[in-house]
Amino acid sequence: MISINDLQVEVEGKNVLNGVNLEIPEGEVHLLLGPNGSGKTSLIMTIMGYPQYRITGGSISMNGQDITELDITERARLGIGLAEQRPPSVSGVKLRMLLDYILKEHEDKQERVLELIKEANMESFLDRDINEGLSGGEIKRSEILLLLSRQPLFAMLDEPDSGVDLDSLELLSSMINILFSPKKEYPAKRGTGLLITHSTYMLDRIDVDKAHVMIAGELVCSGHPQIIMNKIVDSGFESCIECREK
Ligand SMILES: Nc1ncnc2c1ncn2[C@@H]1O[C@H](COP(=O)(O)OP(=O)(O)O)[C@@H](O)[C@H]1O
Ligand SMILES: [Mg+2]
Repeated sequence: MISINDLQVEVEGKNVLNGVNLEIPEGEVHLLLGPNGSGKTSLIMTIMGYPQYRITGGSISMNGQDITELDITERARLGIGLAEQRPPSVSGVKLRMLLDYILKEHEDKQERVLELIKEANMESFLDRDINEGLSGGEIKRSEILLLLSRQPLFAMLDEPDSGVDLDSLELLSSMINILFSPKKEYPAKRGTGLLITHSTYMLDRIDVDKAHVMIAGELVCSGHPQIIMNKIVDSGFESCIECREK
């Protein structure tokens, strides 16, 4: 579904991605790992189309269509969605207003989203400004609820576990599983996505098909998620750096 070819990106005049190649087939959820500052968020923001991430080489395509030149709105309309690492607060816009707006276009999802609001204990902040004064866990819940209500064809989640307490982790993991659960029409096919997390708690609860390790703006390794995670838990990213040098 997503095909990235030799992608080079700069932000504020600095190279952050140096030739990334990545294929994510429909029905697979991939895991992106890597040390802080290696370029994971930059990759996700570039796929979404944030203009400060300037593509200086390579291409991104979705279902065979080159989307490299499309802007963020056009990409969202094609079905790309993102739950940001640090979602902004939006004064003057209530979560309820934004949800109503989204659900007008996705009426079939309305019932499920209302159920989710109850399950996620979110009624109380529907009438507050988006993310304003919410705790870390509540911000992530609200962000993932918005993503879920849009039902993107390709969903990206940037560290949904960061700044989150244990109770929220459990809830967020189930919300992410709902996001990637098979549709009624294709009961054997999961959703498609890219997840950034190093939380073993979350990874024990969310199935991922393949993992990739990013070091200094390059994907240096791809393979079985459990094997790669075990290696990183044992010896950190040192082993990935050594492996890359070999
Ligand atoms: N908006 C920005 N302005 C300046 N530098 C940035 C910006 N976004 C990312 N960077 C830099 O790009 C590099 C990669 O960052 P990032 O993609 O956030 O890494 P990660 O998500 O793996 O921690 C870092 O050195 C970071 O400081
Ligand atoms: Mg990041």
